Order: sequence, then structure tokens, then C-alpha cells
Amino acid sequence: MLTKDAVTKVLDTIDDPELKKPLTDLGMIKSIDIKGSDVTIGISLTVPTCPMKDKISSDVVAGVGALPGADSVKVEFTVMNDEQRRNLRKKLGFGDPRPAQATPPVTYAKRFIAVSSGKGGVGKSTVTTNLAVAMAKMGRKVGILDADVYGFSIPHMIGVSGQPTMIDDKIVPLRTGDNIQVVSIGFFIKEDEPVVWRGPLLHKAINQFIHDVMWDDLDYLFLDLPPGTGDVSLTIAQAIPAAEMLVVTTPQTTATNVAGRVAKMAEKTNLKVLGVIENMSYFEANGVREYIFGKDGGKKLADKLGVSFYGEIPLMTSMREGADSGHPVASDGTPEQVELFAELARAVDNTKVR
Ligand SMILES: Nc1ncnc2c1ncn2[C@@H]1O[C@H](COP(=O)(O)OP(=O)(O)OP(=O)(O)O)[C@@H](O)[C@H]1O
Ligand SMILES: [Mg+2]
Repeated sequence: MLTKDAVTKVLDTIDDPELKKPLTDLGMIKSIDIKGSDVTIGISLTVPTCPMKDKISSDVVAGVGALPGADSVKVEFTVMNDEQRRNLRKKLGFGDPRPAQATPPVTYAKRFIAVSSGKGGVGKSTVTTNLAVAMAKMGRKVGILDADVYGFSIPHMIGVSGQPTMIDDKIVPLRTGDNIQVVSIGFFIKEDEPVVWRGPLLHKAINQFIHDVMWDDLDYLFLDLPPGTGDVSLTIAQAIPAAEMLVVTTPQTTATNVAGRVAKMAEKTNLKVLGVIENMSYFEANGVREYIFGKDGGKKLADKLGVSFYGEIPLMTSMREGADSGHPVASDGTPEQVELFAELARAVDNTKVR
């Protein structure tokens, strides 16, 4: 029979590719769950962007997968906290470290909302922008941190450009007409310039936006995430333990499935999931609604996750145009569009998961 002991014995023989010591000795094995012939192994990485992640995963899957009775092996990554990293340091023979430099707590916003989806192109950035605008119209002090370093789109969508002022090593965010404070990598590079940062630098860039921007006393900081389950949400979870995740999805099963995985991943890193907004729910012409991507996927996902469902945003040509021209419909659209986002903003304002 497949036992934890047997799995641990195998893990004892698998080294971290960089530290050259068994994962078990390094305290990297967080959990071993065995359900019948399915094994799930939780592994704590030293940093979210660990370049050896894939190698560790394939070694573990190959090793444990070879055990009699193991049909499927899954690896789930989380990140060590400061104390676990200190213990690791000790284990590696670096003695007692200097008193740990606590990462400065992030306190400039009352709430931090990471907007995430898993699948690309479902409207995260458009929803972030319009929700931020609606919140600002409600009188909240709002900032947007564009955490999509490779595919930034916030400056264009919200209609703000220019080069931020630096005071010493601090960035002063740009402000929109609605007084929304915005920081994006787009302010620092030319539009057609490729961004070729590798993992650790990406982690650093996002951390710089979190720690080295002179955000001015915010009610809300929205973080527009890139698509995927990946590293950026881990970085955010580590830097802002109080962050909440807002999931955007289309009703389509392929989108809700990935969004569900993102939400599960978020919970593993202690990011609390706030709720779900469904985008591109239907297209309405002459009073007839066409459910292009299917129906009720967002609601079902919210039910499955046990979180709030905030509502549906239809496909609207003017919403795309507003995003393309830097005039979000939440402020410059029809009264119905303004009200739609005002309602979503009120709903988010009224739920809090921490
Ligand atoms: N409800 C909508 N109606 C019409 N167009 C929309 C709607 N929502 C988003 N769009 C358009 O769809 C495109 C993709 O949206 P957006 O860039 O916000 O998605 P995203 O999830 O942020 O994408 P990425 O994963 O690349 O970051 C944009 O051109 C946007 O204007
Ligand atoms: Mg986007």
C-alpha cells in the first residue's frame, strides 16, 4: 500500500538542484496527501520565482510516480515565510542569521484587491479600470498597480501617460482626471520595446511597485494581474498578506476551470478570494440576448468557491472602444454602463473577506 513513509523515503533521495541537499532535509516538503492512488505533494520554495521549480517538480513526479500503487502525482508550490527561510539558512550552516529584516508592512491602502483570471483576454484589465473609476466616483481614494509587466495595458485603458517623478528612490504615481493613482511599467519603457525580464527581476519589479511608490493614503489599491496562475500572485501574496483576490471570468467552461484553479492556488498562498465577476456574459441586440460564451459560468464558479458573485458584464462595443481610447465607460459611458459599474463597486465595497 502507498504510505506517507514510502513517499518520504523517496523524497529523501531527491535533492534541491541548487542547494544539493534532499528536499526533506531542507524543510521544503510541506505536505503529503494520499488519496487512494493519487498523491499530492506540497513543496515550499525559497522564493516564488525559483528558477528550478520545473526541475523539482519533474524529479518528484518521476520519483514518487515510480512507487507501486501511485497512479498520479501532483506537486503544489507555495513559498516559505520569513521564519522558514531563516530555518533553512541555519540548516545550510550559515549559523544564526542577523535579526531578520522584516519586510516593511504595507499599510498605505485600506484594502488591496488583486484582479485575476487564469485565462488571458477575459477582461481583467478592463474590469480593473472600470471598477477603479466607479470606486473613485463613489468618493474612494483609489490606486492601480499594473502588475502585468509583460503585457501592461492600464495606462492606455485609463488614459494616462507620462513619466513619473522620482523622489530619491521613490516613484510618484501618475494621476488620472478622476484622481486615480497609477503605476505601470508602461510609464518607464517605450510602447514597442520588449520587456525581457526573467523571474527574479520580475519579482523585484513588482516588489518595487509595492514598496517604493509614494501611494497617497488609499482606500483601495487594485492590482491588475497578468493571466495565469503563476508567480506574480505568489509575489503579491508574500508582500501583501492582507490582499484579496477578485476573479474575472467569462461564462465559458474553459475560462471558469482555469479561474477555479487560480482561486484554489490563491488560497494555498493565503490570498483570500473575494468574489467573482463574469465578463462578456452575453451580447444584446434589439432586445435579444445572445449567450455567446455560454451562460451562468461565473455564478457557478462563485458557488463552487463559496464566494460572492457580483454580477454579469455584457459584451459591449462601446466598452472595447472606451478601453481603446482611454475613456472607461464607468465614467464616460451611458447612464446604464455607469450604473452597472457603480453597482459592482458598491457590492465589492460592501464585502470584505478579512
Ligand atoms: N465586456 C466587454 N465588451 C467588449 N469588449 C470587452 C469587454 N471586456 C473586455 N473587452 C475587450 O476585450 C479585450 C481584452 O480585455 P482585457 O485586456 O481587459 O483582458 P485581460 O484579461 O486583461 O487580458 P490579458 O490576459 O491579456 O491581460 C480588450 O480589447 C477589451 O477592450
Ligand atoms: Mg490585462
